[in-house]
Amino acid sequence: MCGIVGYVGGQQATPLLLEGLARLEHRGYDSAGLALLGGTGIKVAKRAGRVRDLGDGLPKRFAGKVGIGHTRWATHGPANDVNAHPHTDARGRVAVVHNGIIDNAAALRHRLTEQGVELASDTDTEVLAHLVAGSDADTLEGKVREALAEIEGTYGLAVLHADFPDRLVVARNGSPLIVGVGEREMFVASDLAAIVRHTTTVAHLEDGEIVTLTASGFTTARDTTVVDIDPEAYDAGEHESFMHKEMLEQPAAAERVLRGRLDDRFGTAHLGGLNMDARETRAIRRVKILGCGSAYYVGQMGAALVEELARIPADAEAASEFRYRNPIIEPDTLYVAVSQSGETIDTLLAVQEVRRKGGRVIGLVNVVGSAIARECDGGIYLHAGPEVAVASTKALTNMFLGFALLALQLGRVRDLSIADGRRLIAGLNRLPEQIQQVLDQEDALAEVAGRLADADSLFFVGRVRGYPVAREGAQKFKEISYRHAEAYQTSELKHGPLALISSEVPTVALVPADELADRNVGALHEIAARRGPLVVVTHEDVDLGELDALPHFWQRIVVPRNERELDPILLTIPLQLLAYHAALRLGHDIDKPRNLAKSVTVE
Ligand code: G6P
Repeated sequence: MCGIVGYVGGQQATPLLLEGLARLEHRGYDSAGLALLGGTGIKVAKRAGRVRDLGDGLPKRFAGKVGIGHTRWATHGPANDVNAHPHTDARGRVAVVHNGIIDNAAALRHRLTEQGVELASDTDTEVLAHLVAGSDADTLEGKVREALAEIEGTYGLAVLHADFPDRLVVARNGSPLIVGVGEREMFVASDLAAIVRHTTTVAHLEDGEIVTLTASGFTTARDTTVVDIDPEAYDAGEHESFMHKEMLEQPAAAERVLRGRLDDRFGTAHLGGLNMDARETRAIRRVKILGCGSAYYVGQMGAALVEELARIPADAEAASEFRYRNPIIEPDTLYVAVSQSGETIDTLLAVQEVRRKGGRVIGLVNVVGSAIARECDGGIYLHAGPEVAVASTKALTNMFLGFALLALQLGRVRDLSIADGRRLIAGLNRLPEQIQQVLDQEDALAEVAGRLADADSLFFVGRVRGYPVAREGAQKFKEISYRHAEAYQTSELKHGPLALISSEVPTVALVPADELADRNVGALHEIAARRGPLVVVTHEDVDLGELDALPHFWQRIVVPRNERELDPILLTIPLQLLAYHAALRLGHDIDKPRNLAKSVTVE
């Protein structure tokens, strides 16, 4: 949600800013805008709609070598041209772009109005432009500092001022900002994606920092690092969408998260980033996993892994709900925050709630240096590489593997035997190739996905280990195909939803070859008796009885067998492909589903 990009240097800023904004589109937005500093002061162009429309509608003379751009996701006030960023003061001498929320905006707006300032927009951000313009400080940095002293809330922001035409000032508090260092030019962005094609030498700002950027440098003592990211990772290449590319990257991504972390000699995992010694690890009595959306569902898979391997009571909870029920924080509980972006505000606030009450939190996070990663006491980076599509695939797979590593380590300081530890390590090592085997079934999955796409409503069912898989499968299907998909425990069908089953309502059922396989097959017979179409994701050796012979049995999808604890991830991969091909068939914008954002940074 919301994106910032800024430039100061020797080139014309407009194309760089527009390109940067386009690279931030996946985060979700409803309007976009630019402000440039040229010979005649500040020029602003902004409008509701796409970045492309902004670019197409720019006035002819829209030149300048210092500029800022923004994609906005409406929070204060509707998505229209006036509320789009950048915002300016009354004289148009100051322009501001801002991510985050100013909590005391109403009071500040009131005060400014009383002072005779006319506010043009409904936004919280606009007050910043007026406050900067009203400051008496000598430098732009000083003016921004004075303005921010009045603000309560979160921000990542960039400010232009006509009286200081060679610079921008940027500041961060709770909303990420990255400064990129080029050859006699500097960039700033809320996400590496916006600038990585121009520079990989970056500095992540810390909360509370205010920094001036000029073409020749920037005012921070922070060290720069060179990020090891191939800019190609931000291109879909030959794929029709990022989601497709990212699904296919899963075998390689899975190898990365496991690399260097498996110890066959002791049958355990090495997770140095947890910052816990064996004694502290042994003292854990409970594990509580917190995440949102897909991260929450994979958290449920993770809780099952921890309980099975470490025999520690574990559960997952939606981070968005957690802090609102005044949770009991126990000193011997290990809290685990799981997030691809590391920015999801609900998850971040849950982490802060736990820490405020003295709890220990570790993070399973993909984006290095992100807010959640910094806020945690330790963690496991997921190394999935940049994930652009809103629907999480490779990051989710690596979250599952991260949980497997954690469960293994927790298990091996307790009662998990070395033989079992080695059995799981061997299983983990087989996974990348087995994921590939599932991906190789794409054509067959595309065919049945086409049939599922025709249904208005469908069920995803599974039991125990399979239930979070069903939840994640239904979530993916909903997110990108916009079809109603509901997850249920197979065992609960007869307690209600069976009433909905008909030839119009297909069911995707997860039937791994585990101790519940026969019971699962029994429940499918009940669906079949009501002419409910069936797609069954299962293992080779599961006997489906006569089910496959029925006309409304649509497809058997076979995934390779691994250790039973690791089944969930191999069962998840075909559901990604089903959702993807259903959405493709329906002609949807797969990477940017309607109403959704990749990183949800407001509550
Ligand atoms: C948003 C996305 C979901 C994602 C969730 C958590 O709601 O639309 O796809 O699962 O955020 O994101 P995170 O970055 O914390 O994993």
